[in-house]
Amino acid sequence: MNMPRWDKLLLNATLATCADTTTCGVIERGAVAWQHGRIVWVGRMDELPDAPNALAEAVESVDGALVTPGLIDCHTHLVFGGDRADEFDLRLNGASYEQIAKAGGGIVSTVRATRDTSEDQLYLQSMPRAQALLSDGVTTLEIKSGYGLELETERRMLKVARRLGRELGITVRTTFLGLHALPPEYHDRREDYVTLVCDVMLPELASEGLIDAVDAFCENIGFTREETLCLFERAKQLGLPVKLHAEQLSNQDGAALVAEYGGLSADHLEHLGKSGIKAMAAAGTIAVLLPGAFHALRETRLPPIDLLRQHGVPMAVATDCNPGTSPMLSLRLAASMACTLFRLTPDEALRGITVNAARALGFTDRGTLAVGQRADLVVWNARRPAELSYWIGGSLVRKLYVAGESLSRRKPARRLPSAS
Ligand code: NIG
Ligand code: FE
Repeated sequence: MNMPRWDKLLLNATLATCADTTTCGVIERGAVAWQHGRIVWVGRMDELPDAPNALAEAVESVDGALVTPGLIDCHTHLVFGGDRADEFDLRLNGASYEQIAKAGGGIVSTVRATRDTSEDQLYLQSMPRAQALLSDGVTTLEIKSGYGLELETERRMLKVARRLGRELGITVRTTFLGLHALPPEYHDRREDYVTLVCDVMLPELASEGLIDAVDAFCENIGFTREETLCLFERAKQLGLPVKLHAEQLSNQDGAALVAEYGGLSADHLEHLGKSGIKAMAAAGTIAVLLPGAFHALRETRLPPIDLLRQHGVPMAVATDCNPGTSPMLSLRLAASMACTLFRLTPDEALRGITVNAARALGFTDRGTLAVGQRADLVVWNARRPAELSYWIGGSLVRKLYVAGESLSRRKPARRLPSAS
């Protein structure tokens, strides 16, 4: 008798494969199997080539439960010191995000707190946020720097991001966001700061292997299109992909710029216009929607969802987890808000936190349930895909697999930081 070839086979699943081009690709009474961390079979149970026990070492029925690809949060700023609950109060009392930023609060206040926080403390403060995302189904995570705005602290943030990935046993993609805000010590030397970021910080941190992609905040209260362009030129020279906080509070034509550089994504996009959409469609740049920031800032202008659809720009959804505009710790909640606030369909929202989020990070090896993909998957306490954006809160994850391994069986994240 032949020995079973597969490591694990899940039976009786409602699969949301996200593998076709528009829907979330449901297969009822489905089965999915993996070996050496990769999916080797996916389809209808009654089409399995042999008896389950002859096919796999371990066979488990999930009794009709929904199984999806592991969720992917493609835009977070979850490594930071302190919090900004006081600004939440100020905003509720009428102050705008821009007013707070101009008065020395906002991003710069988190910069002060982060500069004052040691690497171990940053790690300990950030770990629960990463764990919260994981416990809600996230198996791949992007984390940006941008609260250091000087070499040492930017490096510390990126190292903490890498360490979170190692300790949690998940993929963390790091993004350098040196052009996030002008640090106070450069208030009258803007050009010098941009030069420092482009000519010193970026190449240095890239040479240390700490940067997977490059981002900027292209905005009235951030950096101009020209300054962003300098950064993108340097990123290009270093062979690093770019993405952009674009058209969040005003239209700076940032989406077209990032598309011109073949960027992975343009993110926020409430003020995106038609020319930006066309450029994104032509370049294959993903639109990353961040309803948490829209909600927390009580924005009223919606991103142009219909036009994005019409032009076939793929939409991803992310938490934007950060201490100012989106203190959000659930990617499912972001998906839910993308439906209720932005009118995405539940299918679009699920594709937004799986396959399209993978593309926004440049991954082609995950985000769908298909043969050859990494066996990152979630078994849910739910039976239908729409439930993931329908339930608000709660804990729906039954089981998480990362590269075929049950996450609960991996070593738990230690309370005490290990040496980095
Ligand atoms: O994505 N807009 C710029 N960056 C973040 C906010 C960061 C902050 O306020 O701390 C965002 O919304
Ligand atoms: Fe952001």
